[in-house]
Amino acid sequence: MHILTAEQFNTSQIEKIFRRADYLRGQSATLAGRKKVYKLHEGRQLCSIFFQPSTRTRLSFEIAATKLGMGVISTENAREHSSSAKGETIEDTAKILDGYDVDLIVMRHYEAGAVARAAAVCKTPVINAGDGTGEHPTQALLDAYAIKQAHGRLTKLNVVIGGDLSHGRTVRSLSWLLSKYPKNHIVFVSIPELRVGSDVKKFLKASGTTFEETSDVKAALAGADVVYWTRLQAEYLKDPKAVSKGFSLNEKSIDVMKKTAILMHPLPRVDEIAPAVDADPRAAYFRQAAGGLYVRMALIDTVIQNG
Ligand code: CP
Repeated sequence: MHILTAEQFNTSQIEKIFRRADYLRGQSATLAGRKKVYKLHEGRQLCSIFFQPSTRTRLSFEIAATKLGMGVISTENAREHSSSAKGETIEDTAKILDGYDVDLIVMRHYEAGAVARAAAVCKTPVINAGDGTGEHPTQALLDAYAIKQAHGRLTKLNVVIGGDLSHGRTVRSLSWLLSKYPKNHIVFVSIPELRVGSDVKKFLKASGTTFEETSDVKAALAGADVVYWTRLQAEYLKDPKAVSKGFSLNEKSIDVMKKTAILMHPLPRVDEIAPAVDADPRAAYFRQAAGGLYVRMALIDTVIQNG
């Protein structure tokens, strides 16, 4: 049971993962609960291999596995510190890890599709922890979990997705998940150079999810239930300075948001949300990241049970 794309989930699977995350979160509140959770996967191992930098995804997966009683084996800078640096292919690396009888492989790679290529040669379940400008399905799950916590539903939402829409893999994966639920409307806000990909628009149309594209930040924010802001993905641009940004939010620009709306961000942020915004109760990005731990615990648990 590989986790490669947000496309692969249906709503009942998503809801089941969220219920499990709620349970694990509840258990984590007491030492007795933590000890009970620790027994769930004692004796199992997770191997994480990251060819791109990460704070949240790698550490939350490794903490999640440790809380579930698993051993963790990790290489955090695999582009330099694995034999990829000597020219080994991703398929050969994956076959080696597959031979070591771990229970789960969590992989991030700088090329879209590389994690799927690794998974194709593995019997061990592989989780895509982000592949280039492709997808970040576990981020989308935690994003949806945060939306559900704030609004109590994943339907009939006006969701503004803004920033660098052409390189952001979280944008594609979240769009996939939102398209699974009826009556959501997505407003993509970007500058012309960073518009959302045609593949995203295609699957939204196919699912019946309505969307629009605009560069009017103020109007978009005023109508939103959810604002999902993203950073300029400078690592994919030849000349980041040549791209005019024009999408930084501050306390003044979020004034127009509804009182019930939430401001999300997959993080890391650079300068697209001013730190002063953090004190606003609508700023949900740190709560969003914190919930990701329990979503990833639930996902590990689910994958191992079904693997
Ligand atoms: N949101 C996210 O993927 O963060 P990291 O790059 O720190 O893992």
